[in-house]
Amino acid sequence: MRLGVLASGTGTILEALAAAGLDIAVVVVDRPCRATEVAANAGLPAALVARSSFGADFDRGAYSKEVAVVLADHGVELAVIAGFGTVLDAAFFDAFDHPVLNTHPSLLPAFKGWHAVDDALAAGVKVTGCTVHIATAEVDAGPILAQEAVPVLPGDDAVSLHERIKSVERRLYPETIARFARGELP
Ligand code: GRF
Repeated sequence: MRLGVLASGTGTILEALAAAGLDIAVVVVDRPCRATEVAANAGLPAALVARSSFGADFDRGAYSKEVAVVLADHGVELAVIAGFGTVLDAAFFDAFDHPVLNTHPSLLPAFKGWHAVDDALAAGVKVTGCTVHIATAEVDAGPILAQEAVPVLPGDDAVSLHERIKSVERRLYPETIARFARGELP
């Protein structure tokens, strides 16, 4: 299955997907970021689909559709979100006629949204984790494919806890994508 990876950040999850030997047709970023360098180092094509705005006038529907068109242009059969900083709305899911997966740094349905790691710390939970799920137009809510628990340790801050979670995501996400692509899930 030809994958399209959507990333915005440091791209360490993307690095793990590339290292796992998954068939990545294109990496889409929404801003200049390290993920673009990761793609270049791995010899993968990258497309910057730049946002017109980060303010209230942002046309999310038009942007979402544009991302779907770029994926389709690269023959993508499975889109995987790996830390993409723009929420794609229904226009994306209407226009992109293939499955979409996401990895999220909490045990969903707990701690949805951008601040999952901070929210877990603030709640004082002793265990959090990560979730790989089918993405839908409803954020962090689609069917769950895999989860793994990660302990919250004394003295943790958001950086140390997120890094512990991401070290699990770098194994669980490629593994789950490969199983999904082979038709073994859900
Ligand atoms: C991951 O924790 C992912 O679940 C979240 O963003 C992070 C991406 O990490 N949505 P990186 O930028 O690939 O290091």
